[in-house]
Amino acid sequence: MTLHAGIFGYPIRHSISPAMHNAAFGSAEIDAVYEAWETAPDRLAAGVAALRDGSFLGANVTVPHKQAVMEHLDDIDSLATRIGAVNTIVNQNGRLLGSNTDALGFINSLKNEAGVNVSGLNVVLIGAGGAARAAAYALVDERVGELTIANRTVERAESLATELRKTGAETVSYGISDPDLLSACERADLIVNSTSVGMLHGPAEGESPIPASAISPGCVVYDMVYNPSRTPLLTDAEKSGARIVGGLPMLVHQGAAAWTRWTGREAPVEVMFEAAREALGL
Ligand code: ATR
Repeated sequence: MTLHAGIFGYPIRHSISPAMHNAAFGSAEIDAVYEAWETAPDRLAAGVAALRDGSFLGANVTVPHKQAVMEHLDDIDSLATRIGAVNTIVNQNGRLLGSNTDALGFINSLKNEAGVNVSGLNVVLIGAGGAARAAAYALVDERVGELTIANRTVERAESLATELRKTGAETVSYGISDPDLLSACERADLIVNSTSVGMLHGPAEGESPIPASAISPGCVVYDMVYNPSRTPLLTDAEKSGARIVGGLPMLVHQGAAAWTRWTGREAPVEVMFEAAREALGL
């Protein structure tokens, strides 16, 4: 029997996940197919219910369904519950378990692609949306040192910081144009952009969330935006002498973690990287 997996999103046409996962199934000689399921919000419940069939390994979930999908699942693990978003569903004999591999994808991409262990580091996280929440909980679980959260809508940064402080984290929050953010960036070991600023065809294409002068040479700058592969933030960071990490490694590592949950096998990360690069024309 051919097994199935796929991704729920709306729209989903440009997803590179099918290329990445099908390459992994091929290389591991697993008889399975991964498809992009374009799913309008009113079709999500039915789409998810269909996963209970034995031919489905599970699914990924992306914009705009990561929160809405939670009410349709049987169990949600503790990390996904804290983040408040599910990006991976595993079909366990008809029961659907929700988890979040964005957090692990973030940490593994830092470790494997940049040799960065975040424990004790001074980190500035830009953004306070879903992607930021996954990164923030991953950082706190890895015992980050001081965590600064900056967001355009400062209330969102404040509320995430307050939530994290309840877990014992040392967290401060700023608006994105607050002058104190600049000095926090200058002191940071790691700066992470989790906003869509700089994204191709996005509303802030060609822009960077922080001024180039805020980036110190000893810093690692991580941009979750993967298209373009060299965002204005990363170009500035490189000019400042900082080390850079683009968004593709996180995309691949969150996919690899999902693949492992579905198959019980170690994911062929290099194969997935290659397929993702090819799908993006890189
Ligand atoms: P995701 O799940 O990808 O994180 P999201 O929850 O919509 O998506 O969050 C998007 C993030 O990008 C938010 O931090 C958002 O800031 P606001 O909370 O103020 O909306 C940020 N963002 C989007 N466009 C931005 C822009 N032009 N300038 C600065 N921040 C922006």
